[in-house]
Amino acid sequence: MTTPLIAPSMLASDFARLGEEVRDVVAAGADWIHLDVMDGHFVPNITFGPDVIKAIRPYTDRVFDVHLMIAPVEPYLEAFAKAGADIITVQAEATDHLDRCLQVIRSLGKKAGVALNPATSESAVAYVLDKVDLILPMTVNPGFGGQAFIRDVLPKVERLRAMIGDRPIHLEIDGGVNPETGALCTAAGADVLVAGSAVFKGGIEGYRANIAAIRSAGAKAVAKAA
Ligand code: DX5
Ligand code: ZN
Repeated sequence: MTTPLIAPSMLASDFARLGEEVRDVVAAGADWIHLDVMDGHFVPNITFGPDVIKAIRPYTDRVFDVHLMIAPVEPYLEAFAKAGADIITVQAEATDHLDRCLQVIRSLGKKAGVALNPATSESAVAYVLDKVDLILPMTVNPGFGGQAFIRDVLPKVERLRAMIGDRPIHLEIDGGVNPETGALCTAAGADVLVAGSAVFKGGIEGYRANIAAIRSAGAKAVAKAA
């Protein structure tokens, strides 16, 4: 683990040009595309669903990292799989049956992720470590882009890194990530950084430099911590 993967969150992009924005941000160096699905129930905001994801799927071959902030979540897993998600991440708080959810996602041929709200303990994933491909400790309360990074989550990132051990599980951070906070996360053990506002600020001319700044600050912090 050296250079972190950068996953721009399309939540901060121009929704009227979503497909082109995906293409532009990939051309600017994005590793994954992070797609935030919100239902106005689990979180106080509404974004888009499987049909929109299906519509933008042809714009890139990059990993579609789909973050579901919806409850219930079980009835929709198949639709997101069919829409072209590569990774499907559910919020631990959105289901009483996390183990079953993860098994369903893998049975659909997709990678399975679990997101944890800032106040949710890492113990929520303690007994599913062999059924997950990605763990996502949220560093904001989910629902909106542009919020301030919650530093209190950093010790949880370190504990999750220790729990993961040698398992092939990504440790992704989402919320308030910029070069400075992203560096704190990679030093704590994260290997994937989601960033919305910090990638899309300044318009298309800025995307490449914005992504590079987060990536290189994150990589330097890993090197220092090692
Ligand atoms: C928040 C979403 C994030 C959000 C990040 O609920 O899960 O992915 O888009 O946006 P920034 O990077 O602006 O905090
Ligand atoms: Zn997200």
